[in-house]
Amino acid sequence: MRIGILGTGGMAAALGGAWSAAGHDVVIGGRNQGRAEQTAGRIGAAGHGSLAGAAAHGDAVLLAVPAAEAPHLVGGLAGKLSGRTVIDCTNPVVPTSDGLMLDTGGVTSLARQLAAAVPDAHVVKAFNLCHASIWTLRPPAFEGVPLAVPYCADDAEAAAATETLISSIGCTPAPCGGLARAAYLEATAALAIGLWWAGQQPRTAFPSLAETPV
Ligand SMILES: NC(=O)c1ccc[n+]([C@@H]2O[C@H](COP(=O)([O-])OP(=O)(O)OC[C@H]3O[C@@H](n4cnc5c(N)ncnc54)[C@H](OP(=O)(O)O)[C@@H]3O)[C@@H](O)[C@H]2O)c1
Repeated sequence: MRIGILGTGGMAAALGGAWSAAGHDVVIGGRNQGRAEQTAGRIGAAGHGSLAGAAAHGDAVLLAVPAAEAPHLVGGLAGKLSGRTVIDCTNPVVPTSDGLMLDTGGVTSLARQLAAAVPDAHVVKAFNLCHASIWTLRPPAFEGVPLAVPYCADDAEAAAATETLISSIGCTPAPCGGLARAAYLEATAALAIGLWWAGQQPRTAFPSLAETPV
């Protein structure tokens, strides 16, 4: 699949590296061409370019910039993103005296803000629940079980593209409903990050009923 990545930092490198290793055609786009070239070279991406160039390249476009910058950025690229799958991995979290809190600008989720900024694109919330380093595992699996990647999408083709991006790096897609439910993925990230910072292992808090003795 052709994948454009907006951003040259930790998530761009980690997911871009995983997708490149899986054989996808990845272009890293940045506002700083030196950093875009450096990141693309480091992860073995097919190419690098401007933000607009990466947006125009991708059948799927990963948005890997700070949440506070994301709506304005995609709004400016709305023409290029029209008809494309836009994968939103951002976490709109801010540290406060009450701990890590969500700041979604008065909308239920950052993903909904993005969808409003690019109404002709297909926004999907995904890849926001793990630290960037997890995507450098080949494959990401724990105790022999592939990592599940929850995602929220409204559009069926965008959901199918997201499932390809997830399964091609050895993970298991976990569909969680439409974009209206992206708020739950964002809130889950805020909760999980707070637990990690407190030295806890959030994944041990979610055993399924199937794990209880009958
Ligand atoms: N890191 C994680 O473990 C992790 C996990 C899950 C989700 N996320 C989410 O993923 C997103 C990216 O995180 P990251 O860790 O990759 O951040 P990062 O390493 O700080 O990289 C951020 C990237 O965004 C670019 N950027 C910042 N403002 C921009 C703007 N206005 N226009 C265009 N590009 C801009 C930066 O470009 P310059 O280099 O030019 O400044 C840089 O390439 C965030 O929303 C974060 O919440 C991160």
